[in-house]
Amino acid sequence: MSDAANLIEAAQVGAWLEKGPPDQAIPEDSLSPIAALRLVGQELAVEGIPERNLATFVTTWMEPEARVLIDENLHRNFIDHAEYPQTFEIQQRCIRMLAELFHAPGETTGTSTQGSSEAIMLGALSLKWQSQERRQAAGKPTDSPNLVFGGDVHVVWEKFCRYFDVEPRIVPLQPGKYTIGPEDIEPHVDENTIGVAAVVGTTFTGHADDVAGINDFLLQLKDKKGLDVPLHIDGASGAFVWPFLYPHSEWDFRLEQVRSINASGHKFGLVYPGIGWLIFREKADLAEDLVFYENYLGKTDATFTLNFSTGSAMVIAQYYNFVRFGKAGYRRIMEIMQENAKSLAKDIEDVGKFQVIGKGEETLPLVAFNLADQHPYDEFDIAFQLAAERGWMVPAYTMPPDAQDIKMMRALVKLTLNRSLVDKLADDLAAAIKTLEQKGPVTESERRRVRRSVTH
Ligand SMILES: Cc1ncc(COP(=O)(O)O)c(C=O)c1O
Repeated sequence: MSDAANLIEAAQVGAWLEKGPPDQAIPEDSLSPIAALRLVGQELAVEGIPERNLATFVTTWMEPEARVLIDENLHRNFIDHAEYPQTFEIQQRCIRMLAELFHAPGETTGTSTQGSSEAIMLGALSLKWQSQERRQAAGKPTDSPNLVFGGDVHVVWEKFCRYFDVEPRIVPLQPGKYTIGPEDIEPHVDENTIGVAAVVGTTFTGHADDVAGINDFLLQLKDKKGLDVPLHIDGASGAFVWPFLYPHSEWDFRLEQVRSINASGHKFGLVYPGIGWLIFREKADLAEDLVFYENYLGKTDATFTLNFSTGSAMVIAQYYNFVRFGKAGYRRIMEIMQENAKSLAKDIEDVGKFQVIGKGEETLPLVAFNLADQHPYDEFDIAFQLAAERGWMVPAYTMPPDAQDIKMMRALVKLTLNRSLVDKLADDLAAAIKTLEQKGPVTESERRRVRRSVTH
């Protein structure tokens, strides 16, 4: 063996160059750290480039200073409040800041979570418990709870219903109508309804349900029939966007029936995954039975989460963003993204083939669009071609029932998509269409490789 080859073997880098990586059992022997780093790094090299991933709402870039803080706090277990009281205090500050941003009327409570999914599970559990308590106190049965929401919600709402035994009452969408309002929920609400969930910034098109209208309807229901049905806002994406882009639009605790709000810190809160928030209007909106008081390592903790040990780094990173950007910084960032999204929407229309969905309405910084007319190719073909030619990940998907025949594409416009990339994307979209017009639709096997998921 040559010296060079010997050197490679000595570093144990060569051990895996000619065979596959361990994938069934923990290997019997060790590797050097550098070899392990290269092995795992090379495995991941085949993944998509996060900057070209226009499917995800989740943050793909943070400032180097934030990364320093994250790195320095990776070893801190958040649940150890006794050892890390300042980390807990930082979480509480974030909760108070968000409650203020969402116009909570007074002192409130909440929690950080792994993401909006955990926040929704906890918020909806609180709705269930509170409804049970109210009905038990009135001597009424509690065995058939239901939750009302539109077909425009994220899959986590149906997951909650299945996991926690609640009947989902889902208002179907219609072609051309992709959000819901009071008239849609009215037939579904009854005395067993534990709550209504409305979305601000839907996963599918970025728009908001008519929260003010739903709130009015629930107020009338309370006045006329004495039914007090709480409203939970799924602001996974929207809760960090609406306060800055549409400050006068009322969707939050300014509306009386809004009792709880979830937000994904790792989406437009601009923090890496995974951090979410659940904020209650008032302390009384958190069902007391869900809070566990325990004596752990000499300190009594009140916990209200689905997990126990979890990281602190993203909580700290959220606080970094709050103090670093301030409201002015968040506003500016949202405005930049919105301006770039408008520019992209115009460019997409200028291609001459597409219609932009819900133009002029309040929405997230994204462009949801589809083909305006029939062509030999469809949105899935375009998504494939765009990925094949330029590596852009722009998902194609069908809408939820009863709009399942509508195909859609959606491009998120985050800070990583600056104006020059926006222009590039529009050019690449036009080029992909040109290719499809020349060569015809993509093959079945190509189609199977198209990104279809919009669930994050
Ligand atoms: C409206 C909505 N709700 C909930 C979720 C789930 O959020 P998370 O990924 O933070 O768990 C998403 C994810 O995209 C979403 O868009």
